[in-house]
Amino acid sequence: MPMDSSKWIDVNVEKNHYHLDHFVIPQHYEKDLSSILIPHGVIMDRVHKLARMIVDETTGPLVVCCILKGGHQYFADLVNCIKKLTTKGGKTIPLSLEFIRVKSYKNDKSDGVTISMTEEECRELEGKNVLIVEDIIDTGATMVKLLQKLDEYKPKSLKVTSLLIKKTTRSNGYVPDYVGFAIPDAFVVGYALDYNEYFRDLDHICVISDHGKEAYAIN
Ligand code: HPA
Ligand code: MG
Repeated sequence: MPMDSSKWIDVNVEKNHYHLDHFVIPQHYEKDLSSILIPHGVIMDRVHKLARMIVDETTGPLVVCCILKGGHQYFADLVNCIKKLTTKGGKTIPLSLEFIRVKSYKNDKSDGVTISMTEEECRELEGKNVLIVEDIIDTGATMVKLLQKLDEYKPKSLKVTSLLIKKTTRSNGYVPDYVGFAIPDAFVVGYALDYNEYFRDLDHICVISDHGKEAYAIN
């Protein structure tokens, strides 16, 4: 993945680690974070721009698919922005909303994903413009398999936006259509991204500390 792209904001450890004291964080996570990687205000400004790009490149109704649970905050803010941009006159894009839980599996014969949408709900996608909204692309494996599965239902178009993409050597090379930020290969939490279900109630995207990893580990 080329990292000098203007298609996303390159976040790196040298310039983008904010001290925890510089912003407000929930008291219950004070010891569990090592730094703030992307402050909430910057996330919101970026979401605004991503909404603008999506509106500019979309014609006709759009089915927006939220990938649960991590994608819910980005999905909610993005949909809000798209609505605002299209109610001021000018272009209008009717939206319908879908929510999917995705689980990867691997067995001796194949690997793939199971999704929480029913067969009937999937068939509804035929001929529609579909936009998948994800929190983070890490290896890319789950997204590639999800796209293969949804493609079988013959949507008119199938695009993906992910707020984050991780710069990792484990990547399979998959890059979404709309990306917010490329981040270092660290475990991040906040803005609905979790560590064992914790930290979803944190607005900034932060790097978890060793204390946090231990405190919320599953034993
Ligand atoms: N944080 C939260 N969830 C994730 C991450 C991460 O860094 N990578 C893949 N899923
Ligand atoms: Mg996710």
